[in-house]
Amino acid sequence: MRIALSFLALTTLASAEFHPVSLGPRPYWLIDQMRDGPLKETLATCAKEMTTFSLSDFSIGHRGACLQFPEHTLESYKAAAIQGAGIIECDVTFTKDRELICRHAQCDLHTTTNVVTIPELNAKCTKPWEPNQGEAPLCCASDFTLEEIKTLCAKMDSSNMLNASTPEEYAFGGTAGFRTDLYSDFVCPQVPTHKESIELISRFEGYYTPELKFPEVEMPFEGDYTQQMYAQQMIDEYIEAGIPPEQVWPQSFHWPDVYYWVANTTYGGQAVALDENYEATNEQIDAQLDELLANNVTIVAPPMQMLVEAAPDTDNLVSIETKWMIPSYYANEAKDRGLGIITWTLERAGPGLSGFYYSTTDGLVDLAEGDRFTLLHVLHEEVGILGIFSDWPATSTFYANCFGLKLRQTTGGSLPEGEIPVSSSSPADGAFDSWKMIPLALSLPIAITI
Ligand SMILES: *[C@@H]1O[C@H](CO)[C@@H](O)[C@H](O)[C@H]1NC(C)=O
Ligand SMILES: *[C@@H]1O[C@H](CO)[C@@H](O)[C@H](O)[C@H]1NC(C)=O
Ligand SMILES: *[C@@H]1O[C@H](CO)[C@@H](O)[C@H](O)[C@H]1NC(C)=O
Repeated sequence: MRIALSFLALTTLASAEFHPVSLGPRPYWLIDQMRDGPLKETLATCAKEMTTFSLSDFSIGHRGACLQFPEHTLESYKAAAIQGAGIIECDVTFTKDRELICRHAQCDLHTTTNVVTIPELNAKCTKPWEPNQGEAPLCCASDFTLEEIKTLCAKMDSSNMLNASTPEEYAFGGTAGFRTDLYSDFVCPQVPTHKESIELISRFEGYYTPELKFPEVEMPFEGDYTQQMYAQQMIDEYIEAGIPPEQVWPQSFHWPDVYYWVANTTYGGQAVALDENYEATNEQIDAQLDELLANNVTIVAPPMQMLVEAAPDTDNLVSIETKWMIPSYYANEAKDRGLGIITWTLERAGPGLSGFYYSTTDGLVDLAEGDRFTLLHVLHEEVGILGIFSDWPATSTFYANCFGLKLRQTTGGSLPEGEIPVSSSSPADGAFDSWKMIPLALSLPIAITI
């Protein structure tokens, strides 16, 4: 009896902590949606042959796995870790009492939490929700203490009618049709602190890419909290947690933050300059990239559409050998300067692959759902990206395992001291075996065919 009990205790502990990488059906479904061609064949062969998958640092969890889980919750980060994202993102902002929390923006609590439904907290919003307001309320992390924020429930990022007559009508509903409320309604995921994100991600042997979000309040905040103090505080939380710089990719759209990390911290070596200058001319692109080099920045991160363009001969798309997507001027210039490139965001667009992330190919190329993999392949093979953010990291983890990209040999999660999981038998070896079985993967033409 005693033995049985301790065995039970051990297995319970192990299953609570240990999660082998698990990708679910979506990558397989996407392969089925691809047009015939060498890439589809390669991926389909991996789908048949590979039974275990490794964490990959090519696969970056965007706000966790926010296609299905409410963004920036521990639940969303855990889902990303289980999907094999080697690196997981917490967007960092600060509360009224200057605690760092994970939110996409300083002022998005009205769409990412239930704050407007709690009258005493709604009243503290920069712009509280009111009945039939006709415009959006504005609730900022800096309106609340951490203790207050910890009473909120996070939800899918959405809002419903602007002219709602109840706060619930405003706060709930409106979730995009390709997402789901399955993991947020009737449960109460918390808003995590940045420190809690570090603790959870470390348990899954993940690495970190915190993004310092630009303040939406006047800086210095309350007269004495400067931008540089804020940028330093984010780094200090990694130092306190004992996380080495090689495991952290701090990011910012506000490049002075990146320059600060490079010049004043030991965490600048792989700091990431996010680029939102989507309409830059070639001259502006050159100037920006030169500026990054002059400041010793090593990684730039524009969105996917800035890195690819439709090939000149897309008129012949009907031909299955037509090369239809090529690296952009931006991609070539960044590579020529020796800059590393990270990009965003796979699996963020709904069905149909149109809009922002496809704006340089949309209308020129007849994209199928499975072309998420085709785009990923161009970004990897021709642009040479270091990694990619995804709202559903399973898709990019699958691709990374099929092509042997930045795989990490890990247990997939922390285990009780001295315990070796049965399933720890070198998943990467298995991956390599099936990869070797498909020389096609090596000989894929640089040009993508449809
Ligand atoms: C409120 O919004 C709904 C949905 O958009 C609309 O049908 C309705 O006419 C609006 N009512 C008012 C009073 O503006
Ligand atoms: C480095 O820190 C010093 C002292 O705080 C500051 O004056 C300087 O602007 C910082 N450098 C960068 C590139 O931000
Ligand atoms: C960039 O690095 C070089 C070599 O370490 C150094 O001499 C230079 O001062 C750095 N530039 C800036 C802007 O930090």
